[in-house]
Amino acid sequence: MCGIIGYTGEKQAQPILLNGLAKLEYRGYDSCGIAISAENIELYKDAVRVEALRKASPELKGTLGIGHTRWATHGAPSRINAHPHLDCTGNIAVVHNGVISNYQELKSRLVDEGHKFVSETDTEVISHLIEKYYHGDIEEAVESAVADIEGSYALIVLVKDEPGLAVARKDSPLILGLGDRENFVASDVPAILDYTDRVVYLEDGDTGFITGNDVKVKRDGKEVEREEHKVSWSVEEARKAGYEHFLLKEIHEQPKVIRSILGEYTREKELVADTLGVKDTDIESMLIIACGTSHHAALVGKYIIEELLGIPVRAELASEFNYYSHTLAGGVSLAIIQSGETADTLKAMRKLKEAGNRVIAITNVVGSTASRIASHTIYTGAGPEISVAATKTFMAQLMVLYWLGLSYSRLDARRLSGLVKELRQMPGKVQQVLDDEDSIIEQAKYLSGFENVFYIGRGMSYPLALEGALKLKEISYIHAEGYAAGELKHGPFALLGTDTPVIAIVPEDDTYEAMLTSIKEIKARGSPVIALAEEGDETIEELADAVISVPRVDRLFSPIVNIVVLQLLAYYTARERGCSIDFPRNLAKSVTVE
Ligand code: F6R
Repeated sequence: MCGIIGYTGEKQAQPILLNGLAKLEYRGYDSCGIAISAENIELYKDAVRVEALRKASPELKGTLGIGHTRWATHGAPSRINAHPHLDCTGNIAVVHNGVISNYQELKSRLVDEGHKFVSETDTEVISHLIEKYYHGDIEEAVESAVADIEGSYALIVLVKDEPGLAVARKDSPLILGLGDRENFVASDVPAILDYTDRVVYLEDGDTGFITGNDVKVKRDGKEVEREEHKVSWSVEEARKAGYEHFLLKEIHEQPKVIRSILGEYTREKELVADTLGVKDTDIESMLIIACGTSHHAALVGKYIIEELLGIPVRAELASEFNYYSHTLAGGVSLAIIQSGETADTLKAMRKLKEAGNRVIAITNVVGSTASRIASHTIYTGAGPEISVAATKTFMAQLMVLYWLGLSYSRLDARRLSGLVKELRQMPGKVQQVLDDEDSIIEQAKYLSGFENVFYIGRGMSYPLALEGALKLKEISYIHAEGYAAGELKHGPFALLGTDTPVIAIVPEDDTYEAMLTSIKEIKARGSPVIALAEEGDETIEELADAVISVPRVDRLFSPIVNIVVLQLLAYYTARERGCSIDFPRNLAKSVTVE
């Protein structure tokens, strides 16, 4: 969601801010703006893309400035509601990511005190609060303002005649980028990676002040030290590297992602006991919480862990879990959260922690809020995922779940070592799918002409059906539904017909015979069936209208190869329809509001 950036140094701020905003586009936004401090604060903002802002904005001269991409929450996308927001004097400009939950109350109080508001946003109360408290010391003014605020915020404040930028964070990500006679502040690493790989992750409750030569972080008004980290991603990783879209690049990076997770975790089995914080024999059940694609990984994880550990596993949507609490018990919970910032998952994590659970976060973002809340964090290390639709991070989450499952497995040693050996083959198997995309492209062309599609699977393939459908709907805007194959006849059959193709995921596992029956029933209702089936499956060839072959793998690992087909199918369908693949309408990469 909203992205923020600030620059202070010796260079002209405007191009750096615009470049940073372009790098934050992936978070999702509908308007953007910048403010630069020179003799006065000059501001330019609009409900346009960053490139349009770059073309339309006048040259704003100055070496100190802030920028913002806004994903509308309070008030429609418009020039007035876009950030930065000014106070009454026009001398204070603020960019904000988060939600001020008590803004109505603060706004009424400020209006009574004579402040004039121009926008519908919650953020504008912050610039007026700072105006109220500013008597020459910006740090003090920001500290007083945030003391009045309830909700979440990552803030950058620019004040005329001040030599630097004031910052504050609570429940929204904010990092400082350390340069040579210049410093940066941003929501996320990609915004500053062109300039520096040295970062400081601010913690909840931190405030601070940065100039080109100095970085000061404070907690409760007292200066504190915050560790400097070196970003392990390279600038190239955050670029398209010759691919037409980030999404295609990220799909193609999956063999590398699998290899890196295998290298990181499967050698050191003794790490595992530390990870879950319990002995394998003590785990009696597990709860996994997540949203969206990560929830689909959680559902696959349920099958993996139930099978390998023989314990009951619940996989819950964080947004639902947050509204009931009767079944909480002290135990081990996993929170799957690629961005590390999804508001619903963070809320569920806090709730679980308060109830005495050990909460393990599986995230892709170092220093994220999730990693701060968690009892322990497992990093997926998939590198930057820029495209809004999650692909390689989903694969990385699956790999971590396989690793946890196998490490704690109660299987006999022979089956276990066979599985670990086979897991090591997965980068090659995925590469095989990537190298053989012609049949996928052909089916994508066919699918692109429809407006409704069903995805079906059973067992481990059911969450894949959900994920395949989610990928298709979010990037191609085709209405797609993922269903447990056995459920289709309990209602959705009414929608079947020649204009509703069905994608059936048919690995040769325990669900195979039942899937064949489902396909026959669907064919009898006239729907075209495209099957994902294992190489050499002749039965399916005869039954389905089209077959996309996937490499044969152990039945436990079929999600690893099938998901890549589904991702490519969604990608090429969206491409055929000319959609905005990397940045789909209305969506945000990091969903920081409830
Ligand atoms: C879909 C997608 C979203 C995210 C969801 C949760 O492609 O990316 O559904 O999976 O917003 O995100 P995280 O994992 O950051 O909690």
